[in-house]
Amino acid sequence: MKEILVTGSNGQLGSEIRQLEKQYPGFSFTYTDVDELDLTDEKAVYDFLKNGQFDFCINCAAYTAVDKAEDDRELARLINATAVEYLTKACNAHNTYLVHISTDYIFDGTNYRPYVETDPPSPNSYYGLTKHEGEKAVEKFAGSSLIIRTAWLYSSFGNNFVKTMLRLGKERDALGVVVDQIGSPTYAGDLARAILDILCGKKIKQGVEIYHYSNEGVISWYDFARAIMNESGTDCKINAIESKDFPAKANRPFYSVLNKTKIKKDFGLEIPYWLDSLKHVLGQLKNK
Ligand SMILES: NC(=O)c1ccc[n+]([C@@H]2O[C@H](COP(=O)([O-])OP(=O)(O)OC[C@H]3O[C@@H](n4cnc5c(N)ncnc54)[C@H](OP(=O)(O)O)[C@@H]3O)[C@@H](O)[C@H]2O)c1
Repeated sequence: MKEILVTGSNGQLGSEIRQLEKQYPGFSFTYTDVDELDLTDEKAVYDFLKNGQFDFCINCAAYTAVDKAEDDRELARLINATAVEYLTKACNAHNTYLVHISTDYIFDGTNYRPYVETDPPSPNSYYGLTKHEGEKAVEKFAGSSLIIRTAWLYSSFGNNFVKTMLRLGKERDALGVVVDQIGSPTYAGDLARAILDILCGKKIKQGVEIYHYSNEGVISWYDFARAIMNESGTDCKINAIESKDFPAKANRPFYSVLNKTKIKKDFGLEIPYWLDSLKHVLGQLKNK
């Protein structure tokens, strides 16, 4: 039996891992969030890993409030970068293989084709900057580790674009949604399954490896909002607007499509199409 520690496990990704637990009988899971293990407490992190004897740690913890991070810089850096350094060092000291999650926001979004893992990071928001610092900490201090960059995460758990659209769609007749930011939505349950499948297999490489994972397909937030309304039968018109007409505190990449060839090739993954996964989650939300 392999022991897995899941940190930040009350969030979207952590909650989806919990849902899949029974499908992976070869793993024994320990779940923590900030109340049980605050990753910004270096000694607590070191001690927790020392006592637990974990084979793997999946780090789902993060400061994910992109706009708030522009003002709340100290805390964003503490959680997304400093705490990642603590966790990486503890994993390395106790022979725990770290799976760390990062983001498309480490790129500035000026590319003309899907980002590959070797494209140079150039974050244009403070959240992106701190997540990139987290990646660098893993690269510097990990013996062996997997960094998985993902994008536009949503789930029936937590707060996300899908749930916001469903709520606003009930309250309003029409909504403006940006049409000039392009990416790939990702159901956190699909990412959770991909991570557990990877850890089940025997294809993990030594050293630190970066991979990209999102659902298949490329759309704008406008397209996504329209699909959410159509598929949920919500009668709300979606109007296409430009980012300049929807001012936000943080910059966001205009184009953040991730190339997933490496993760598919190395681990033989089949990645679901975004619309199929959206339908699945809308079904879950209907039954909640
Ligand atoms: N959400 C997205 O659209 C998106 C896109 C790309 C990449 N990602 C990355 O994907 C990963 C998972 O994202 P997610 O959406 O599942 O995040 P999430 O729902 O915001 O969950 C993060 C969890 O980490 C916890 N946490 C915060 N500070 C902590 C600390 N000091 N110690 C331990 N736990 C702490 C949070 O608790 P509180 O809620 O109490 O703060 C929360 O339960 C993150 O690395 C994120 O950067 C997310």
